[in-house]
Amino acid sequence: MPLVTGKEILQAADKGKYAVGAFNINNMEIAQAVLKAAAARKAPVFLSASEGAIQYAGLKMLVAIVKTLASEAPVPVALHLDHGKDLKIIQACVDGGFTSVMIDGSEHPFAENLKKTKQVVEMARKKGVSVEAELGRLVGVEDNVSVDARDAVLVNPEEAGKFAKETGIDSLAPAIGTSHGAFKFKGDAKLDFERLAACKKITGLPLVLHGASGVPQWVLEKAVKYGAKVSEAKGVPEDQIRGAIKNGVCKINIDTDLRLALAGAIREIMANKPEEFDPRKILGPARDAIEKVVLEKFDMFGCAGKA
Ligand code: G3H
Ligand code: 13P
Ligand code: ZN
Repeated sequence: MPLVTGKEILQAADKGKYAVGAFNINNMEIAQAVLKAAAARKAPVFLSASEGAIQYAGLKMLVAIVKTLASEAPVPVALHLDHGKDLKIIQACVDGGFTSVMIDGSEHPFAENLKKTKQVVEMARKKGVSVEAELGRLVGVEDNVSVDARDAVLVNPEEAGKFAKETGIDSLAPAIGTSHGAFKFKGDAKLDFERLAACKKITGLPLVLHGASGVPQWVLEKAVKYGAKVSEAKGVPEDQIRGAIKNGVCKINIDTDLRLALAGAIREIMANKPEEFDPRKILGPARDAIEKVVLEKFDMFGCAGKA
């Protein structure tokens, strides 16, 4: 089917109290793996491209891959710009066929984030493209930091209310203690559900959880077994993901788990079959490993059967 807007997928998720997955793609194989899993589980899904992915693969190429695959997919698919920072790139995505964009102004002070986000909402509305924005910063917050230090980094629910009202965004990514990458926590993983619930109550918006990779055991074991130096990796545990969904999260962003699965599968082939150099025999198993990760996410998020 043709691409749908992010808003359409998220409104249904919000109403149905489940979350959908948003998976970062950089090439054809990753997009194929995600959509094969989505079709198998009948799950609505976001394919996300970062500015780095656009630089790597090209905007037109990514749009062509996603539109082609989505046209054959039996599920709703949104093409989303992840962590858009450059207004020119955001405009190019709006004009080039993306159906959802994120403006990430989280590195700026509140007033500037608000101003930039408003600008993006204005440009996106003209093309019916949905907008996600971020408040607070996604840096690792350990258990033993002071209340003041925590407050300085995590979302402020009062600000979230003002921000949502003044910008007219369609979804909000509040920082509640996750971070990007494979090394998220040193101690116990605990997200700030109180803050999350307060943001949901005050904004009424579908909320987005960034930095949500779980680093599944089987993925980590394989990567480490075949030489990846990631043994200290730690992700967001399943109970914390379920808690986030209960408190208003409707979109869950996953990139790291796909990267680790791909790296592990490629390392395994290279180690076990040093005579192999057919790209299909190297990238094919990597694609299968990504598909398996994505299937597990759909089962965890509650979006299976919702398409
Ligand atoms: O949140 C960031 C995503 O994992 C994308 O990462 O900017 O390296 O493509 P990237
Ligand atoms: P992970 O690094 O936890 O996969 O987070 C990805 C993300 O938030 C993309 O926006
Ligand atoms: Zn992110």
